[in-house]
Amino acid sequence: MNDVAALILAGGNGTRLWPLSTTAKPKQFRRLLCDRTMLQLTADRLAGMVPPERTFVSVRREHVSLVHQQLPQVAGENVLAEPQVRDTAGALGYAAFAIQQKFGDCVMVVLASDQHVESITQFQASLQTAIEAARSGTYLVSVGVPPSEPNPQYGYMECGEELPIASHAFDGVRYVEKPSAQIAEQFIKAGNYLWNTNIFVWQTDHLLSALRRYQPVIYRLLKTMHRIRMASHSYEPTELYGKLPKISIDYGVMEQVRPGDDHRHVFVKGDFGWSDVGGYRTLEKTCRGDEHGNRCRGEVSASSTKDCLLFCESPWQLQVEGLSDCNVIVGENGEVFLSSRHSESADLRNLWQSGASRLLGRSGQFQADARLLRVNNLGFFADSGMLCAMDVSNLDVRIRGNSVRVAGSPMLAPPLATGDALTQAGGLANMTVAVAERYERMSEMAAEAFVETVSNAIASKGKAVISASAGGTPELLYGLLRTRYRSAVDWSKLVFFQMDEYFGLHPSDNQSMAAYLLSRVIEPLGITNFVLLPNGRECDADALAEHERRLEDAGGLDLVVHGIGRNGHLGFNEPSSAFDSRTRMVELSQSTRQANRRFFSNGQETPGYGVTLGLGTMFKARKVMLLASGEAKREAIQRCVWGVCSPDVPASMLQRHSDVDILVDQDACGWLLKPQLSVMAEAPQFEAADAILAGSTQGENGPRVQTFVDGNLKRAA
Ligand code: PGA
Repeated sequence: MNDVAALILAGGNGTRLWPLSTTAKPKQFRRLLCDRTMLQLTADRLAGMVPPERTFVSVRREHVSLVHQQLPQVAGENVLAEPQVRDTAGALGYAAFAIQQKFGDCVMVVLASDQHVESITQFQASLQTAIEAARSGTYLVSVGVPPSEPNPQYGYMECGEELPIASHAFDGVRYVEKPSAQIAEQFIKAGNYLWNTNIFVWQTDHLLSALRRYQPVIYRLLKTMHRIRMASHSYEPTELYGKLPKISIDYGVMEQVRPGDDHRHVFVKGDFGWSDVGGYRTLEKTCRGDEHGNRCRGEVSASSTKDCLLFCESPWQLQVEGLSDCNVIVGENGEVFLSSRHSESADLRNLWQSGASRLLGRSGQFQADARLLRVNNLGFFADSGMLCAMDVSNLDVRIRGNSVRVAGSPMLAPPLATGDALTQAGGLANMTVAVAERYERMSEMAAEAFVETVSNAIASKGKAVISASAGGTPELLYGLLRTRYRSAVDWSKLVFFQMDEYFGLHPSDNQSMAAYLLSRVIEPLGITNFVLLPNGRECDADALAEHERRLEDAGGLDLVVHGIGRNGHLGFNEPSSAFDSRTRMVELSQSTRQANRRFFSNGQETPGYGVTLGLGTMFKARKVMLLASGEAKREAIQRCVWGVCSPDVPASMLQRHSDVDILVDQDACGWLLKPQLSVMAEAPQFEAADAILAGSTQGENGPRVQTFVDGNLKRAA
């Protein structure tokens, strides 16, 4: 068949199979099914049909060497490096030009490299049919398989009449990419739909003319790149390639084709035991279960365990005990991934695309864990569409040498937020959540971070401008500043702005916040530059604006230290305060008055009004620290960190801030981390140091999410 060339698409990043698939080495380069990698298995499927010299691979630039290692029979120039990821419409057009340049117009077979095929004979028979069909007209031929469930993650192809050009080839009525579950259900009932397998066959000329018709911008750019390459073989199309609109061939071309167009769909019905190895649920189907329903791969031993997927990559050994209905996956770097078998991460890719990648992970180093709570080398799964990590309170994980032992019964914790909420949480990657076992340790961590921030500001510009709240939570922080850190800072260089105050309470009133701060912070530390909020009779619009002006004149806040209200307030910014609100008078909510009643024991009413720095004012601070202790704050913290970013929870504003440390004790943290979860990390690469638990990911510009218990609040380098 010397008019046929094949293109293997190997540019995906396999986001749903972390840690078996990582950005550095995505699933197509891994031995997921047997001792051949997915890419090698894909190339094997072409044996006898398309020779290696006519086989091309499209791949991200950073993975070119993996292709050379795994498919040494494929010539160097047939490995087409995508300078950037621009989705399949651009990648296929780019490859079509390259194939034409080398071999002239030919039949182009397109295969994805992340699929499992049970019968190669049947697969090749279907491919042969598709090749014959592609040769016989202006056809875009897709190989489909009968759907086995109404899965909304697939593309569906509606078949019309069987065509005389080849057996099992149908007139293609239409393409519907990822329909709703309801519509998919109707398709299954109708009986004349196939799943799109992303196996395509067409003449290169026909693909290019379809691109010219349905994606003219892509076509023009590709044509220009092609012309330049013809003139100069060393041309690297980085800039033009980056301009290609990002769209898949399914949406960009296949869905656009209408009956009567020059291009026609032909759908070939195949039956070769196809599955797309997309997530754990599909991977599980490629593996037979033992008598307890466990599907194991790698060095795994299981006792009192049933219905689990247990995968362990070399050189690791996995021992599990007392688990049921879980996925436990150990990646080659010793990452342990736990999830409920009932959850599936189908929409991870959507989350990733809509920016949730910034939640965790270095951009370009996505590890499919935008919704993983990561603790040291453990990842706990956040369910599809929901952030609901595993409740690991009964779990014992020990990592010793090359052995990982997992025992206990993790459960899915209650959902906290919807997927939408997560995608809105754009700034979370800049939040550090540090969990201390006790209030005392949390206060020490806060004092260390406070002193570090203030000292850095003083060192760089001669002063530090801060605002810090009164209240029960920072009591011990202030105590530590007065004692342990009394001489660590030149306190005369501090400018202190009051954050909030009860309306009408004078500093001479013991219950006022000014009195609190004067007695615990200002006077004992010798802070001479202290700016009180306008209050009582002086609290008019001019005075409030003047307060803002003074803050600006001081150069803005370097640091704010917050407590958090049970209702999620910051300062006295009660729920529904605008994120851009300024210093103003506010009415206190019932919840705040109730919580603060304890400070007004001698028969005095809790005031009904307050004065506060606005959320917008405090948001401008260069750094934010938020402290929370005790179970009463648990819900507020969860909503602040993981919930919808909305004025209903004023503290959720911090999700958008670029530098936030949230310090909580175990009680305020709740189920997110519990001390019963023991992780013994003895292999040197874990650097367990003094942290009982530690997890950190770092973003491109240094941001990271970090969770740890009783560790030191270390700055990421
Ligand atoms: P608390 O108050 O530290 O006294 O609990 C915090 C707040 O209401 O902001």
